[in-house]
Amino acid sequence: MQNFSLLIDKITVIVDNKLERDGKLKDICKLLIDNIPHYNWVGFYIAENSKPELILGPYIGAPTEHTKIPFGKGICGQAAERKETFIVQDVSKETNYLSCSINVKSEIVVPIFKDNKIVGELDIDSHATSPFTKEDKDFLENICKIISKVF
Ligand code: SME
Repeated sequence: MQNFSLLIDKITVIVDNKLERDGKLKDICKLLIDNIPHYNWVGFYIAENSKPELILGPYIGAPTEHTKIPFGKGICGQAAERKETFIVQDVSKETNYLSCSINVKSEIVVPIFKDNKIVGELDIDSHATSPFTKEDKDFLENICKIISKVF
């Protein structure tokens, strides 16, 4: 069942709990993947301080070889460079794409900002083509603002 406002409440509770950052991020991945059927891989990439690169953080889903992604590369790297949400409704049409699994058909990447600087990203893969709506985008941008508190 998709109840975005209930999930926002639960994420606020996770963000304010006493776990360390990675524990909170992992719990948020679990909450999203368990409650939204078209989210089939949910994970965080953390921005390096010293160079324009993303490092794989907590995630739930199939293991990925893409543990380090330079800004500009793939959907994650392009979202980091553009500093905005990047939705690809059909990954077969995206040439700058890093494939994790043949089951993945679409992807949404939402940057997380702290003091106007990108500190990380929320990355979601789906096994459906064109599953992401404006409601998904608004919901995910909303939670990324809440999640920025843990950085
Ligand atoms: N597909 C991503 C790489 C990360 S995986 O989805 C986990 C991309 O093109 O940046």
